[in-house]
Amino acid sequence: MTEIKKHSKVFIETYGCQMNVSDSEVVLAILSKENYELCESIEEADLVLINTCAIRDNAEQRILGRLDVFRLEKKKRPDLLVGVLGCMAERLKETLLENPVVNIVAGPDAYRDLPRLIASVKADPKQINTALSHEETYGDISPVRMDKNGVSAFISIMRGCNNVCSYCVVPYTRGAERSRDPHSIVREACEVIESGYKEITLLGQNVDSYHWVDGESDVDFPDLLEKVALLNPRVRIRFSTSHPKDISDKLLYTMAKYDNICNHIHLPVQSGSNVMLEKMRRRHTREWYLERIAKIREVMPDCAISTDVIAGFCGETEQDHQDTLSLFREVGFDFAYMFYYSERPGTMAARHFKDDVPLEVKTERLNQIIELQNTLSLESHKRDVGKTFEVLVDGYSKRSKADLTGRTQQNKTCVFPAGGHSIGEYVTVKVKDCTSATLLCELL
Ligand code: 5AD
Ligand code: SF4
Repeated sequence: MTEIKKHSKVFIETYGCQMNVSDSEVVLAILSKENYELCESIEEADLVLINTCAIRDNAEQRILGRLDVFRLEKKKRPDLLVGVLGCMAERLKETLLENPVVNIVAGPDAYRDLPRLIASVKADPKQINTALSHEETYGDISPVRMDKNGVSAFISIMRGCNNVCSYCVVPYTRGAERSRDPHSIVREACEVIESGYKEITLLGQNVDSYHWVDGESDVDFPDLLEKVALLNPRVRIRFSTSHPKDISDKLLYTMAKYDNICNHIHLPVQSGSNVMLEKMRRRHTREWYLERIAKIREVMPDCAISTDVIAGFCGETEQDHQDTLSLFREVGFDFAYMFYYSERPGTMAARHFKDDVPLEVKTERLNQIIELQNTLSLESHKRDVGKTFEVLVDGYSKRSKADLTGRTQQNKTCVFPAGGHSIGEYVTVKVKDCTSATLLCELL
């Protein structure tokens, strides 16, 4: 094993959700204090970290494929250290250490221990810490941002999850829910605003259950959202993810009160069938979900709504599937993340129900949902044609450097001629045409 040199180089690859991206920034902050600097490729790295996701089997398969790639690099450079972080590390624990390429396994609550784990590799090439914590929020750590354009920053406001959705591995990989001290969240928000970011997304598995009690102060999610929104009216605030059983009227009224809180709610429904919702232990019904949608529309008529859905959960009948399609039609989602059910070992569903919908049927149902959602997205975009929007410019069009891309408050992507504008500016555009993915606009 080599000595860890001054200014060793770390390459961090991140999979899974935004929360993982945020966690990688915490990891980089911790390692930066240890004289590590980020590098752009595996070939330059002394240490390669892969921050993993365990939500579905195909996520894990992709990561195992990446470990094979690292193995080739390690053949050339036996001194290269490889660490597996995140949800898959937490789920598989010692099993991952059996992979000859892996030196370090660290779960989501063990990142402060990384410097010790790295230093210990010299004595023993296999190091692991997958302890989960009831307190760790990394609240005092200022993440080192890894995004490319400096426009949009993500701030983690809580960790873990106390829901018991029967299909989901997250309560096992990220542990119990804990909220982060609001002072540290506001401090981090001030830092990112000072460094020029124009959009902040507050992240949690279930932001509606954010709750901080400390002496006199009692801060719930709408209170926190308000505090962050008040920092600068020209900085947009977003949040994710909401839960239908917890999303409150107070939240909706807070969103409506502040122009800079974006009119977009990501509200996973998972299924349109009450039988499935019960088996999924979602603790809400189809009717409850539709009532929440009606309330959102009453308070904010121009609020975009997106969702997550799972096709082919245990015992799902054709009728259950039709209920999902009809719910999609009834709500008219602007956008959806759509999956077929993937059994996760150890979850309630894996222990109690049979994964009995054949893969062909799961795929067929998923395709039907995707097809329907494409139509709904196109309809949602068509309703925007002729309207004007303020968009925050966040990149160049893939097709042409002469065009910019930006997003509306509703999180819809606009493409428009650059006209001398640049990334990070707000511009006003008029929608001329659309596809199911993009609003084609002109500058006003
Ligand atoms: N199989 C398929 N999709 C899943 N999700 C969570 N667990 C599973 C699973 N076992 C989906 C849910 C969740 C999103 C992040 O991933 O829709 O909202
Ligand atoms: Fe994120 Fe869930 Fe994947 Fe973990 S398992 S990285 S929480 S999506």
